[in-house]
Parts: sequence; structure tokens; C-alpha cells
Amino acid sequence: MKTLIYSARAFEIPYLKNANNNKHKLIFHKKSLSEDTVQDAKDFDAISIYSADKADFSILKQLQQFGVGHIALRSAGYDNVALSSAKKLAIKVANVPAYSPFAVAEHSVCLLLALNRKLLKAQARIKRYNFKLDSLTGFDLNKKTVGIIGTGAIGSVMVKIMHGFGCNLLGYDIVEDQTLCDTYNLKYLSLSELCEQSDIITLHVPLTAETHHLIDSNLIKQMKPGVFIINTARGAVLNTEAIIKGLEENSIGGLGMDVYEHERGLFFKDHSQNIPEDMLFKKLNELPNVIITGHQAFLTKEALMNIADTTIYNLTCWSKGQSTENELTTEI
Ligand code: NAI
Repeated sequence: MKTLIYSARAFEIPYLKNANNNKHKLIFHKKSLSEDTVQDAKDFDAISIYSADKADFSILKQLQQFGVGHIALRSAGYDNVALSSAKKLAIKVANVPAYSPFAVAEHSVCLLLALNRKLLKAQARIKRYNFKLDSLTGFDLNKKTVGIIGTGAIGSVMVKIMHGFGCNLLGYDIVEDQTLCDTYNLKYLSLSELCEQSDIITLHVPLTAETHHLIDSNLIKQMKPGVFIINTARGAVLNTEAIIKGLEENSIGGLGMDVYEHERGLFFKDHSQNIPEDMLFKKLNELPNVIITGHQAFLTKEALMNIADTTIYNLTCWSKGQSTENELTTEI
């Protein structure tokens, strides 16, 4: 299949080439899919996109006119694709459902530990030969209550890891996983009960109409003072303005974030010579109790290998006229 790989980043190209092994004609495009770049897909059978790419109705319509019948997502999340429009336009869309839940859960823990133990501040001091310990006090995770919102592939790994730390585990999900309760003593509660009782809240739900701004000012008011919030899911699951207010008022003790509500156009690029006027992000970036990574939770060798393998697998199924079990356009 002749496939245009949008948003191709240097770190993933060797994995994609290796998985492809010349099966498909892959063309790597540095730019992301947008109204400005959609015409580059003319005469391709398929495109492959990532979470930074936008596939709304207008873009999908143009893709269909150009003869693009397949979209292979190199991500698990698909909130950036208008799936119902794709289905109407007979464009098949498939994702990589679970490339490494460990990568994302482990990064969530990494954010939590770095935030709690003031790792970046400590490191900056040591680099300057300042070995003072003032204002580096954290807290034991042992016996703390962790609220896990979304106990699917990533959330359930989070349950296992935090169980290892000796934490009490609370869960909130529309589908409850009884084995997590039986094995790790997880207790499912309502969202507001989870917020009231958790010392740490970690988010692992997809971004949907129901989860958009799931964490808002009302819920923040119900949280324990000084609660830590970790978000590696999608930025808009949090109401960013409400979160900033909570951080400024110290009702939220710390925020670890790998995703940001307005990350499209900001993340995955070097803006150091022309800093964007994004006041919300600037505020977050300046707050001392906020640690930010730029959507890198997935970024492990194992995940990249799995993403590449599944992307090529999806393309191969389509090239043989078969459907793939990763297709999202069959479920609507
Ligand atoms: P999953 O589908 O295995 O689990 C999601 C869980 O959320 C499911 O148990 C589902 O029942 C639950 N859920 C869905 N809607 C809900 C609602 N309205 N209220 C409560 N629970 C709800 O997905 P997985 O693999 O665990 O990924 C979760 C999310 O993590 C992805 O959708 C993606 O947005 C994000 N992600 C972020 C990455 C990063 O690099 N930062 C990488 C991979 C995924």
C-alpha cells in the first residue's frame, strides 16, 4: 500500500522501516495532517497519523476525494479523528490499541515520584554543589490512597504498580474489573467519592464527550487539600483553568502532566526561538509544583516496536482486502 506517514519523527522511522521490510511503499512526511497538508496525500492508498494530527470531517472529505481509503493511527487514543464521518465516507480507520500500557503507567509513576521527591529541584541544586535539603521534603507513598480513574489497559498496570508501593487503591470506571478488586484490593467508588478520599489521583480514561473536563472546579472542591494529580491520558480530561486555580490556591498540592488541553501545534516541536503566547501553558510552566513532559509517556523502545508492528500489520490486512481487528470504524 502506498502510504503517507504524517508527523514522522526521527525516533520512530527506523522502527517503521524495520517492521515494514519493504512490504508497503512508505513515504515519511515531517508535517502533521491539517488543512494545509491534506493535499499531500493525493494518490496515496493510505495515510498514517499520530495524536498531533487532525482528521475532522473537512479533512476526511478531502482525503476521500484524493482516493485515500485507509487511516492507520500510530496511537491508542483516537479523539483527533471524526470516526463517524470516516465511516460515512467509507474510510477505514484502525489504531494500535495496546502497544505498551507499561510505558504509560511507568511514566505516570515517574511523574509522581519526581514531583513528590522534588527531583528536579534537588538535581539543579547538586549541579551547583548545593547539598542543602531545605524544602525538598516529600511524603511516603506507602499507605497513601491512590484514586485511579480509568482501569483499562494502562490503569490496571497502574493498579499493580501502586499496589507494590503499599498504597490503598480506589478506582472509578464505567466498566469495573473484578479481578483488580480480588487481586489488588481495589475498591470502586463514584467519581466524587474517589476525589474526596484520594491523596493522589491518576487519570487513564480516553478523551470522549463524557470525559471532556471530567475534572472540573466542582470536583476539585471535593478533593483532599494538597492532592496530587497525574495526567498522562489527554489534556482536556482536566479543565486546565480550574486546575491552575487549584494549584495557585494550594488546594492541589502538585500536578504531573504529560498531556495538555491545547497541546496540538505546541508539543512535538522546538519553540525555543519563538515562544508561543499560550498563557495557560505559561502559567503551568511557571508553577513550582507542576512537572510537565511533552506527551512522551509512550516513548519506550518496546512501545515503538509494537506501534510499528501493528501499524504495518493493519496496512497489510487492508492491502489483502481483509479487515483488521484493530479497526475503529466497524464499532460505530
Ligand atoms: P483502555 O480503553 O484500555 O482503558 C480506558 C478505560 O477508561 C476503560 O476501562 C474504560 O471503561 C474507561 N472509560 C471510558 N470512558 C469512561 C468514562 N466516561 N468514565 C469512566 N471511565 C471511562 O485505554 P488505555 O490503553 O488504558 O488508554 C487510556 C488513554 O490513555 C488513551 O485513551 C489515551 O488517551 C491515553 N494514552 C496516552 C499516552 C501518552 O503517551 N501520554 C499513550 C497511550 C494512551
